[in-house]
Amino acid sequence: MPSPHDPVQYARAAGLDPDRLPRHIAVIMDGNGRWAVERGKPRVEGHLRGADVVRATVTECCKLGIDQLTLYCFSAENWKRPKAEVDFLMSLLKQYLLDERDLIRDENIRFTVIGRRDGIPDDVLAEMDHNISASAGNTGLTLCLAINYGGRTEIVDAVRKLAEEVRRGELDPSQIDEDHISGALYTAGMRDPDLLIRTAGEMRVSNYLLWQISYAELWVTPKCWPDFDVSVFRAALSDFAGRNRRFGGLANVQGAV
Ligand code: IPE
Ligand code: IPE
Ligand code: MG
Repeated sequence: MPSPHDPVQYARAAGLDPDRLPRHIAVIMDGNGRWAVERGKPRVEGHLRGADVVRATVTECCKLGIDQLTLYCFSAENWKRPKAEVDFLMSLLKQYLLDERDLIRDENIRFTVIGRRDGIPDDVLAEMDHNISASAGNTGLTLCLAINYGGRTEIVDAVRKLAEEVRRGELDPSQIDEDHISGALYTAGMRDPDLLIRTAGEMRVSNYLLWQISYAELWVTPKCWPDFDVSVFRAALSDFAGRNRRFGGLANVQGAV
């Protein structure tokens, strides 16, 4: 079912230029724990609030007609956290996957996941797989969750895949180019992110989409993820609209040598 919204009108009403929106937005949703601790609450309260913000952000992307939103939900390094927090995050993820079914259907969202499956509890994997297959034919926003995701692990897995193809005699090493590598990553077939948003102020990429963000525009806000509301999101989009993306070339040839 097509989305009932008119994204162009919606973007204009929000003060955004519909022709200058990013097509793929990646987000490092950081600062849930700090948000909670600053309010004298346990860290998990921040994760709970964070799930509501995910819902609001996904809805805004649908309204704006964004092609893809890729959210960093759980990194390959987050297993280092106390077991109680990891268990809470896994059960929250399962609840989120169940709760979002109506939104996925109503907004025509295609749901996907990137990351390694090992270590993810079976009941979470089952809900993930259900949402992936139930939404496979949808044509609206692609919502991609990075779960047990690490950029280096992804590159390791891609190298193994290509090495296997070489061993089977299906690929000559001299044929390997950037497209082969992109096609061997978890994100095969997806366009690279145009905009990478990080909340909670850290100036690092924390092993997120290392290959894919080569030319993404970076936008960092000091606000913690639970405080990332629609107005902050629109500020990021408006800032992106004013960026001059050169990809190593020149913005214009005036004044060239
Ligand atoms: C982001 O918030 C959520 C996850 C990494 C799962 P954090 O839990 O990292 O919160 P801070 O950075 O400790 O405040
Ligand atoms: C990045 O946040 C991972 C997610 C948002 C899921 P972290 O809190 O794990 O990153 P660092 O430890 O500050 O680099
Ligand atoms: Mg953090």
